[in-house]
Amino acid sequence: MDVRATLKNGIAKLREADVPSFTLAAELLLLHVLGRSRTWLYAHPEEIISDAELQHFFELINRRAAGEPTQHLTGKQEFWGLEFEVTPEVLIPRPETEHVIEVALDRLALREIRAGRPQKSAGEGLQIADIGTGSGCIAIALAKELPAAYFYATDISPAALAVAQRNAQRNAVEDRIHFTEANLLTIPVGAQQAAPQLGNTANSASPAVHQSPATAHQSQLFDLIASNPPYIGRREAPSLPREVRDHEPHSALFGGEEGYELYADLIIQSTQHLKPGGILVLELGHNSLPAVQPLLDTPAWANVGVTNDLAGIPRVLAAERL
Ligand SMILES: C[S@@+](CC[C@H](N)C(=O)[O-])C[C@H]1O[C@@H](n2cnc3c(N)ncnc32)[C@H](O)[C@@H]1O
Repeated sequence: MDVRATLKNGIAKLREADVPSFTLAAELLLLHVLGRSRTWLYAHPEEIISDAELQHFFELINRRAAGEPTQHLTGKQEFWGLEFEVTPEVLIPRPETEHVIEVALDRLALREIRAGRPQKSAGEGLQIADIGTGSGCIAIALAKELPAAYFYATDISPAALAVAQRNAQRNAVEDRIHFTEANLLTIPVGAQQAAPQLGNTANSASPAVHQSPATAHQSQLFDLIASNPPYIGRREAPSLPREVRDHEPHSALFGGEEGYELYADLIIQSTQHLKPGGILVLELGHNSLPAVQPLLDTPAWANVGVTNDLAGIPRVLAAERL
């Protein structure tokens, strides 16, 4: 079978199975199997595909038709123009999370302008935390944008941290991101070991090492804390697409019965771990804003702002620690 007929066949099977974006999914799977670019695909419609490649492609098409996300079949997803390894242990990076990066960079730049300092475009001296790092996409994208900044990235899942660590290596920022297993920013007492001071040494932590800014890093304060916490309500589970509900880690999806439960602790810990003038940037669930914004209505916070995503949904909440 040639390229054109194979693709047509794959598209038809995915359409029949009601797969969203079926044409794109079939294209991505064929590109993955052939190890080719999209330009090649459309320039060589008559090229004959080998039996082994055909078999591999239709196996993947059948798995996609049965609900497995395309990214689990290709093992990758683009975010902020960078390529990330994706496994079933991590949330697949979403386009709306790129607003977290935009808001973080805007807020950091604004802070410099307001302080009358030249804009620190490379992030010299900045200490940044990413809480619930998953694939590492937020910390890694910010590390690429701020090549002189240092990062502290936590997750409750050791399996996710292992993927994040590999993604940091893949994107050549592993020497500036310290990955740590933690409940938000809190480490179980007795579990911490000697932690490298951020900004001093290469990252020597294995993903399973427990360290704590609240203990080993008693004096560790951050210029920016960013987080895309789990924010879907468990009661919303039945209405989620099967790709999400049946294939992405529930610890990455569900924040509690309502969804917004983790934000209160996240904001309290951020109050304790941000420098004066430090910035908090939080991704929000589609209905989280009314429950979360009032948590910032205390004398500890100023310049609270909300950014909508491209669908007009309030997606990012940011504030400055007084
Ligand atoms: C919505 S995912 C976000 C992943 C990634 N930052 C992104 O934006 O794609 C939430 C992440 O938080 C982690 N997580 C859940 N509860 C946590 C907790 N209490 N402390 C730290 N991380 C947590 C999950 O394992 C998951 O990797």
